[in-house]
Amino acid sequence: MINIAIFASGTGSNAQNIFNQFKAEPKAHIALIVSNKDDAGVLEFAEQHEIPYAILGKDEMDDEETVMATLEYHKIDFIVLAGYLLLVPQYLIKAFPSRIVNIHPALLPAHGGKGMYGMKVHEAVKAAGDDETGITMHYVNEHFDEGETIAQMRCDIAPNDTADDIRRKVQALEHEHYPQVIKDLVKKLSK
Ligand code: GAR
Repeated sequence: MINIAIFASGTGSNAQNIFNQFKAEPKAHIALIVSNKDDAGVLEFAEQHEIPYAILGKDEMDDEETVMATLEYHKIDFIVLAGYLLLVPQYLIKAFPSRIVNIHPALLPAHGGKGMYGMKVHEAVKAAGDDETGITMHYVNEHFDEGETIAQMRCDIAPNDTADDIRRKVQALEHEHYPQVIKDLVKKLSK
């Protein structure tokens, strides 16, 4: 069994979707949710569904021993970022080589980097007048949004689409594709 931890800072619509899509997976399961915010919507979901969760703020994330002990306790093999705001610390990247993935709600390298999160990304896409956007799933390295790309999916933007219309289109792509990309990666691990 491959145990997955999902790191999320907000509502967690992706975390929820991934959890639901992994219910029927025989060889992988969502073993832990980690959030840096104690009021994140994703924690309510974790409680409702009795998924173990940990609240690890910025200072706690810097404490290697505590974080590694938490992940070891839940026997975590793979980490999925789903709307996670903090930079992943170096020790975690070393401990999980090619085993931490992120989703970014744009076509990297466009509209990525520090501070480019959620709605801010869609507003930047709108302001740039782009006629397409999409999602990028990538391995996580020590820089925001810079690890090796795993997959990208695209969608068109109509001239009168608002930033919120763009968010909706991108979210639909995320929900359609992220769970499958994770399943494919996890399958390779269990071989
Ligand atoms: C998602 O769109 C995700 O791609 C984005 O935050 C949103 C979280 O939504 N991540 C980033 O912007 C990372 N730079 P959710 O909480 O509903 O899953």
